[in-house]
Amino acid sequence: MDIYRIKGGKKLSGEVPVSGAKNAALPIIVASLLADGETILKNVPDLKDIRTILQVVKCLGADYDFDTDKNSLRIRVNTVKNNEVPYDLVKTMRASIYVMGPLLARTGEADVSMPGGCAIGERPVDIHLSGFEAMGAGITLEHGYIKARTDALKGTEFKMRGISVGATANLMMAAVLAKGITVLDNCAREPDIVDLGNFLIKMGAKITGLGTERIEIEGVKKLQPVTYHVMPDRIEAGTYLIAGAVTRGEVKITGATPEHVSACTATLTDMGFAIDSGKDWVSLQPSKSLKGTIVRTLPYPGFPTDLQAPLMALATTIPGINVIIETIFENRFTHVAELRRMGADITIEGNVVIVKGVKDLMSAPIMMSDLRAGAALVIAALAAKGETEIRRIYHCDRGYEQLDKKLTALGADIERIKGGGL
Ligand code: EPZ
Repeated sequence: MDIYRIKGGKKLSGEVPVSGAKNAALPIIVASLLADGETILKNVPDLKDIRTILQVVKCLGADYDFDTDKNSLRIRVNTVKNNEVPYDLVKTMRASIYVMGPLLARTGEADVSMPGGCAIGERPVDIHLSGFEAMGAGITLEHGYIKARTDALKGTEFKMRGISVGATANLMMAAVLAKGITVLDNCAREPDIVDLGNFLIKMGAKITGLGTERIEIEGVKKLQPVTYHVMPDRIEAGTYLIAGAVTRGEVKITGATPEHVSACTATLTDMGFAIDSGKDWVSLQPSKSLKGTIVRTLPYPGFPTDLQAPLMALATTIPGINVIIETIFENRFTHVAELRRMGADITIEGNVVIVKGVKDLMSAPIMMSDLRAGAALVIAALAAKGETEIRRIYHCDRGYEQLDKKLTALGADIERIKGGGL
């Protein structure tokens, strides 16, 4: 397995382009199953998770060409031939559950392996399933598979018991071809959901209320394939701002949507970093007087849980006390033990983490356990004294396009060593 070797202490400086958003591209790729014909998606990041979802749509009968030099993806759907997504794919990536909505809408049948827990928490899918039931699907669990069946999905009024990005996306994809009007209440307001909604609207869907907690969808008989440009990745954007901050460097992220990273930039400003932004860029500069802050992860527009681990890596280097409260996932702290091995002073009490800034982090052999925890370790290594070796970097390949190349372009001393570790 490949490893990263990072010599810490280099100030990052320069510009870094933001890739297309993984968490928008995943449901949009799946939503292309809703129309026969050729869908063309631009700005699709070349990531392991994207490859996995492409395998999923292929196993359902779609065909694709992915021009990774141009980040351009063509997906051809004749008819949806299969309605089963096997365990091997779902265990690789939970977002495979997204096919349930389109499959039910198009064929009335979906058999998807039930996702298990993962490194960041239990992650049930009950909200997705009760939404499908409310729309008229019968759901059973058989031998580890969720089996959903319906003669025809019907519009309904459904209030989600908690805010879920995945359930909002899945139910929207089901409702666009359902009979009548579906009103979804307590919806996720994440930009990824808005991007999916805009894609569906371009295909001919009738949706209002995107970006609010109440989304109304009037089912249509048929959707058309379209060409669509996926929005920029706000989590990647925030990760590079935090990476610049941890090295006290000056970075500018380009091709971004500043509004989407405003919770992150507000936190960085509160810590004392200087932030500037224009139409499609955000820049960060260090300052001499940095201080700790309090951050609570929340659904959008709050501080994203996906940046909690990267922010914690930065917090370990900020003088004073930082308090980080994780409210979305119950166990998203696997980075803490590794950061402690690098000299970080971190205490966990339930879902509250207290980080006391230390003068220097030091290098240590460390290991990634999930995507964003992995990004946190890279960030810590960029600041640490000495040379850090990071294992299991395949976690970062799931969600950061060309991470080592982008960091090298910013002046980091990072090397990807092929087959360098277990
Ligand atoms: C999406 O996951 C993202 N994944 C995650 O990003 C992100 O961390 C998360 O939203 C929160 O922002 C994708 O978009 C592919 P949720 P999702 O349903 O949809 C509970 C990354 O690093 N819940 O919004 O699975 C759940 O357990 C990934 O890129 C239920 O209880 O998250 C969690 O506590 C990791 N029942 C909370 O809701 C359900 O049926 C929010 O989860 C569904 C969710």
